[in-house]
Formats: sequence, C-alpha cells, structure tokens
Amino acid sequence: MAIGVGLLGLGTVGAGVATILTNPEGRHPLVAELALRRVAVRDPKRSRPADLPATLIVTDPKAVVDDPAVEIVVEVMGGLEPARSLILRAIAAGKPVVTANKAVIARHGEEIAAAAAAHGVYVLIEAAVGGGIPIIEPLKQSLGGNRIQRVSGIINGTTNYILSRMADEGAAYAEVLADAQRLGYAEADPAADVQGDDAADKIAILAGLAYGGPVPRSGIATEGIDRLEPRDVAYAAQLGFVVKLLAVAEHMGRVEDGSELLDVRVHPTLLPKGHPLAGVHGVNNAILVEGDPVGQVMFFGPGAGAGPTASAVVADILNIAGIRQVGGPTAGLDPLLAATSWRRCVLVDSTRTRHRNYVRLRTRDEAGVIGKIGTCFGDAGVSIQSIVQFAGHEGAAEIVTITHEVLESRFREALAAIQALREVQSVAACLRTL
Ligand code: HSE
Repeated sequence: MAIGVGLLGLGTVGAGVATILTNPEGRHPLVAELALRRVAVRDPKRSRPADLPATLIVTDPKAVVDDPAVEIVVEVMGGLEPARSLILRAIAAGKPVVTANKAVIARHGEEIAAAAAAHGVYVLIEAAVGGGIPIIEPLKQSLGGNRIQRVSGIINGTTNYILSRMADEGAAYAEVLADAQRLGYAEADPAADVQGDDAADKIAILAGLAYGGPVPRSGIATEGIDRLEPRDVAYAAQLGFVVKLLAVAEHMGRVEDGSELLDVRVHPTLLPKGHPLAGVHGVNNAILVEGDPVGQVMFFGPGAGAGPTASAVVADILNIAGIRQVGGPTAGLDPLLAATSWRRCVLVDSTRTRHRNYVRLRTRDEAGVIGKIGTCFGDAGVSIQSIVQFAGHEGAAEIVTITHEVLESRFREALAAIQALREVQSVAACLRTL
C-alpha cells in the first residue's frame, strides 16, 4: 500500500526529492510505494519539475502537515521558522519527519528530539550534513562500537568550491560565489556559508551524534573564509599546504560531573598537501572519523546540490517507509535510528586547546626583526617550525611563521608580545595548521 509523503519546500532540494519520487524506475522498489500527496511552495508561479502535478501544490505549509493522506513530512524549506514549528506540528500529529535543516537541528535539536520521543516518531536528518554522503547513519549506527577521538571534515560545499577555484584559477571571490549560488550549492543567504555558520551547525550535529549528547551550538568558535586573503592561500601553497575550511570536534576528556569535554570549532586551516582532506576539491565534502578501535574512516562525496541532497532525503524516507511496511514502531523507537542521547557534552575553554599555527606579520624590513619575533615566541614557550620572509612592498616585509603544536594561551601571549614590537606593523593573518 502506498505511503503518503508531504513536502515542505520546493527549492533546490525539494525539487530534487520530487524528481526522485515521481521517477521510481530503476531505484529500490520501496520508492515506487511512496506517493507524493502534497507540496507546499512559497511562490506557486515558480517553475517546478515537469512530472509534478499542479494539483499537489499548496501555499500553506500547515495544509501539508495536517493532510490525513500525508504520513511522512519532509521539511526542505530551510530557515529556523516556520520550519521548527512545522516539524513540531508534524511530530505532535504523530507523523515522522525527514529534514535537511541543519540550522534547526543544531539549534533546536533537543526540543525536537524530546517531542519526537514523547510522540514515538522518528526525525531523520541524513541530508542535514554532507549532502549526498551517508554520514549520519554511520555515526548513529555503524560506528557505535567505537570510542570516537575526533571527527573532522570539510562540510560546506560552497566554501570548498570557492577555495578550490581561488587556488586553481586565482578566480575572484565574488565571481565564484555567484557560480556557487547558480549551481544551487549556497544557502539562500550565503553569509551562513562564507562566515562558517553552516559548517558550525553541521559539526554541532556530527559531534552530538559522535559523543552521544547535544552540543551547545552557541559555544562553537567559528571563523569563515570571508576575511581570508588570497596571499595566504598562495604563501600556504609555497610552504606545502592547502587552505580548507575545516570543522573539527575532538574529545578532550571528561569533566567531574561525567560530561564529555569537547573542542568543537570551525576555521580556515592549512592542511599539509598529503593530508587525506587536502585532496577534497570543488563542492565535495569529506568527513574523517577517528575512533578506537576502527582507526581512520573517511566519507567523501558531493556535499551540496539538488541530486546529492535529495538522495540523502529519500534514504531517510525509505528508512521510515521500511519500518511502516513491517507494521510501524509498535514496540517503541529503535534507539540507534532515533539517536537517543545518553550523555552530556560541554565545550572546552579555547585557551586550553593545543594547535599548530600559521602567522603572517607585516613588519619593517630591517636587520634583527626575525630574531626579535623568534625571541617573543621562545619567551612564551612557543616552538617554531619555520619562519620565512616573503617580499613585501614599500619598505615592509611579510614574515610567515609556522609553529609547532602549542597551548593556545601561550600562543596568544607570544602574539601580544610580538604586536608590541616597534618593528611589527600588524598581525596580518593568523590561521590554524594541521
Ligand atoms: N550551503 C551548503 C553547502 C549546502 O554549501 O554545503 C549543503 O548543506
């Protein structure tokens, strides 16, 4: 018997989902059991997939959620509201939800999970992170036997597309961003992509799954690529690195009350050219999971765009449809698929974290400057891996230092002393290095 699906949103992802559902040929036989019953759009005059009957279209999203023929609600409209309220409305009506909405899940995931548990329905989110890459299910299920040490990844397709084209073609930032928008990679407001917030939403979700409890989204230190200067990409390349926007969640231990202590952050990062994530280009995403005893597992694929994201949405719909076919969750929810929390997570104070760093200083070009900079680092206990002078202009020099791994508080102490040097005009760039 057909299973009724209601779609909230018919943008890039919604149209991709509609295309799969209305063309089941050659896919898993369960796809043919899914019947698209109603689709909410903001603007009914906008073009829509050719196979989508006009009779399904409504402008009131509540009419989709409330339609008795809709058994699974698929939220692909994006934004916080009304998406959050509609998800909660569907849950309250006992309808399972599939959503690609990382912003809502990262910020309101606890509320939504509590409501879902109370009503005995699944809320599945495979499409919220990594586009077409299956990463949510592996973290919830396949890797459950591991102690996860670190989850790190390139999880914003737009910025990776921009960084790749800037590095390869020396293309201008604005022109590349416009292409990313045209290709359906970027958010409606691409500030979320380039300022790192989209990646922060996604790493909050991944960390919550990897470590078993919600991660405070507002505490995630976030830096985007919007202030990254092309010369740092070029200098990094000369020193053997590529620059990527990296999202990282790292296990730092446990606090006295038993909570997991995590370092979760998003920032442009210099990766050695041989690092597994350094070869991830264009709109592709990759997530490296390091666990005990599995070791390193990397998930790679298209991280944005209609087809890949719709592939992940439909996988979740199929999960729910499969459970329906065998009679529904009469004995309660599967705790692995429902991703029930079992821990509390807290974020570490950033001054207690340890990193390698790339620092570009603009200085006077005169004898003894590199020596004084080296002394400032040494006095703070910061060990230098390399220090190089690049050609400056108008009597200025550009000095790039790469440190060994150091405590963040010591690094900041060194930077403060360097900034106070008469010869140093500015700390022009400061980036993390792996
Ligand atoms: N804007 C997002 C990205 C879309 O560029 O990765 C997928 O979440």
